[in-house]
Amino acid sequence: MLTRKNILLGITGSIAAYKSVDLARRLMEEGASVNVVMTEAAARFISPYTLESVTGRPVHIDLFKDPFDHLNLPSETDLFIIAPATANTINKLSCGIADNLISNIWLAYEGKALIAPAMNARMYRNRLVQKNIKEMKKHGVDFVGPVSGSLACGEEDIGRMSEVPEIVEAAISALATKDLSGQKILVTAGPTIEPIDPVRYISNRSSGKMGYAVARAAVRRGADVTLISGPSHQKPVSGATLINIETASQMETALLKHLPKTTAVIMAAAVADFRPSSKANVKLDKKEVNALDLKKNTDILRKLGKMKRKFTLIGFAAETGNNVANAKNKLKNKNLDLIVLNDVTKKGAGFDVDTNIITIITKKGDVSEYPLMQKIKAVDVILDKIVELKK
Ligand code: CTP
Repeated sequence: MLTRKNILLGITGSIAAYKSVDLARRLMEEGASVNVVMTEAAARFISPYTLESVTGRPVHIDLFKDPFDHLNLPSETDLFIIAPATANTINKLSCGIADNLISNIWLAYEGKALIAPAMNARMYRNRLVQKNIKEMKKHGVDFVGPVSGSLACGEEDIGRMSEVPEIVEAAISALATKDLSGQKILVTAGPTIEPIDPVRYISNRSSGKMGYAVARAAVRRGADVTLISGPSHQKPVSGATLINIETASQMETALLKHLPKTTAVIMAAAVADFRPSSKANVKLDKKEVNALDLKKNTDILRKLGKMKRKFTLIGFAAETGNNVANAKNKLKNKNLDLIVLNDVTKKGAGFDVDTNIITIITKKGDVSEYPLMQKIKAVDVILDKIVELKK
């Protein structure tokens, strides 16, 4: 997600600096080129040599080593991350004090910046620190964390630097085009489960990967996202409101509750079409069960299609043959604006994999077929189509 992006990673003097080595690696794994600039205090916590070995590039510390580092480094940078950022550095940057290489670069830098503070809780709550953070946010600087937990001083409180995956996510978000800002999007994901008795249920196959990827990409692109999820092992999407449900009926209730002011609904969930007609309150004796009596669940998407006024409605069709014709019928019958079709029998497009092969069909009848791609890329293609529809 960070291919061709140049990231300047500033490291200041906090014990959290040891995590910056991993941060540099993860940013590079996402495709970024990483240049490191450190304060002398940071170099007392971790060796510059470690970062040179990880990034394969020289680490910049001394303001006087190269007369133009403080001008050349920022001009080549897409995102300036300072992680960890101490209270001292935050206060200095906010006031424009330039007394080391990082603070000189800051003054000469005009691009996007992301700060991950790390400090003792009392220092973090200090009104000067708070005032300076507020001021920097007002000028468009992004912050990630700090979070609560055990601090180096032994206290349990706020002040820990965010974990590396959170900082990487914030970096990806900071660089994403915000073409969905102002949109309020409801995404459903995962299966629904329909109980037979307290220990058994029927369900659909679904890992939730596609729905969670849609939610993650929509947050990155600036949308206000509510994710309604059936049971799934996916990591919660930072920045999205997560509502956990189990049954189709609970999913329907949650959707209807959040529908007002929604601008798009993306139904990626594998909603169970049937439920046992009654749920036993005690575990059934298997000797006494020969057949299950089933009832049809509400087709939530169809119901939303009937209610549709202002929001854009997107459905998914997991097919196993006669694909485009079936998906076109669903699009029409459910009054959708767009349907995403995937043939689950194709290699790389099935369940619980990180890739998908999608075909997007719009209300106008346009059919676009895409090759095998990572789900996180496929969902951007879907969101691009939604942006087009909204124009
Ligand atoms: N869906 C829904 N409510 C249901 C079943 C499905 O909202 N009870 C939604 C899914 O979230 C998906 C879309 O409908 O976005 C397509 O699901 P699918 O099961 O393929 O649709 P059906 O019309 O039930 O398909 P079929 O007739 O092939 O069973």
